Amino acid sequence: MRLSLSSAGLQDWNGDVLAVGLLKTEENSSTQALCTQFPGLEAMLELQDFKGKPGESLVLHPMREGAPARLIVLGLGEPESLGLDGLRKAAAKAARSAIGCTGKLGLLLPWDGLEPNSAACAVAEAVRLALYTDQRFRKDTDPRRIPDSLELIGLPAQAAAGLNDVNAHCAGVELARELVAAPPNHVTPAALADTAAQLARDHGLELKVLERADCEARGMGAYLAVSQGSDLDPKFIHLVYRPQGEVKRRLALVGKGLTFDSGGYNLKVGAAQIDMMKFDMGGSAAVLGAMRSIAERRPQGVEVHMIVAACENMVNGSAVHPGDIVKAANGTTIEINNTDAEGRLTLADALLYACEQKPDAVVDLATLTGACVIALGDEMAGLWSNDDALAEALDTAAGAAGEGIWRMPLRKSYKDGLKSLLADMKNTGPRPGGSITAALFLQDFVESDIAWAHIDIAGTVWSDKGRGLNPAGATGYGVRTLVNWVCGQAN
Ligand code: BES
Ligand code: MN
Ligand code: ZN
Repeated sequence: MRLSLSSAGLQDWNGDVLAVGLLKTEENSSTQALCTQFPGLEAMLELQDFKGKPGESLVLHPMREGAPARLIVLGLGEPESLGLDGLRKAAAKAARSAIGCTGKLGLLLPWDGLEPNSAACAVAEAVRLALYTDQRFRKDTDPRRIPDSLELIGLPAQAAAGLNDVNAHCAGVELARELVAAPPNHVTPAALADTAAQLARDHGLELKVLERADCEARGMGAYLAVSQGSDLDPKFIHLVYRPQGEVKRRLALVGKGLTFDSGGYNLKVGAAQIDMMKFDMGGSAAVLGAMRSIAERRPQGVEVHMIVAACENMVNGSAVHPGDIVKAANGTTIEINNTDAEGRLTLADALLYACEQKPDAVVDLATLTGACVIALGDEMAGLWSNDDALAEALDTAAGAAGEGIWRMPLRKSYKDGLKSLLADMKNTGPRPGGSITAALFLQDFVESDIAWAHIDIAGTVWSDKGRGLNPAGATGYGVRTLVNWVCGQAN
């Protein structure tokens, strides 16, 4: 999508669809100006009792020579409560209301009081991401009529810089959405490795894929145990972005990559939504998507290691028995008292490998627990960290991306729930506080002097109905948070 600023006014803007945001208090000034420009609008606003409340909208077809083919009026609510998130929602709504029109979409919003670069970036991202559709699995594809360019009207010229990274960010989010939405017969561990290989070729990244034998040689018994009931080979993927010049910070992004989670012998039954467990590689999709955006932005001074221990959790005669005891790469023995708590087993070996890269910080993303969905719902991911500065930086990065996140406690005493009679630990504790014991389990596989954060995206990876800039389905959650965080440390 072509993105630019326009210094035109309401009278002289030229394009195909014009979307204008109105605040609740603007009954006299902006509304009046708009009504003068578009005869018939005033009557329509009245007829529909348009108040300018957030979410309200109205579409008009001004059949006048020289006027845009479609005029979209959006309610924005009270000026005091309008922030970047309100603008994102309005922009997404404008984009959806523009479907059917090709050509140029213009967006005139009350930008005052907002930092122009972030406002431009937020709004343009929302438009592109809201227009995303996925027709890869249909026989007949429907050629969609959507705008091919976006003009933000009335922002100062400096805000153009805010548009520079929009397409790179959105390409990363869209890659993540495509990976998550694709079914488990398409996105296999090998397909994730192929995606990494494609990124490496396209953007000059370094790639290493460890096969089963390599993982065996490294003693990754926790990861391999999860994979052993599947007909598909595991793929341990390590992708590296190296900046030009001096490396000042080394970061690791680790993603859970279960391309399907049946639960294993603790099979997912009843309300456990086994048919949705293609999205159990959402963490790996987010880190691959982030690598795509980072590779395009090429931040200086930061080296980024992406690590995914990809496999399937299936059942056959070689699958893990509930009760098996396995050994992770650091020698820790784990009693698998529940084969459905498989993500943490794969992450244990992935985190150990990540720490071997001697990073300054490690962040893992995982669709780890149903308990996190119960705690926080589908608008906020859970965040656990052993380092306050890292937690704060991630919170800021998520805030700037408009992605919900909430810090949760690493309460030490809850680790007692993971005590095993025979092994060093069990993989599952009691149901209460289940997302916390999962995080505590992971912490055992991270060196204590390395800043680490764990983000549980079980709720945010998918949106049944769609919300804001997310159409229904895979959200691509986490990509923009990670990219903001990584690029925020560049210099
Ligand atoms: N992939 C699931 C977590 C999940 C559940 C994500 C629902 C999204 C929606 C994970 O592997 C899992 O099965 N976790 C178990 C852990 C339990 C056995 C301790 C869970 O949450 O039920
Ligand atoms: Mn599971
Ligand atoms: Zn899982």
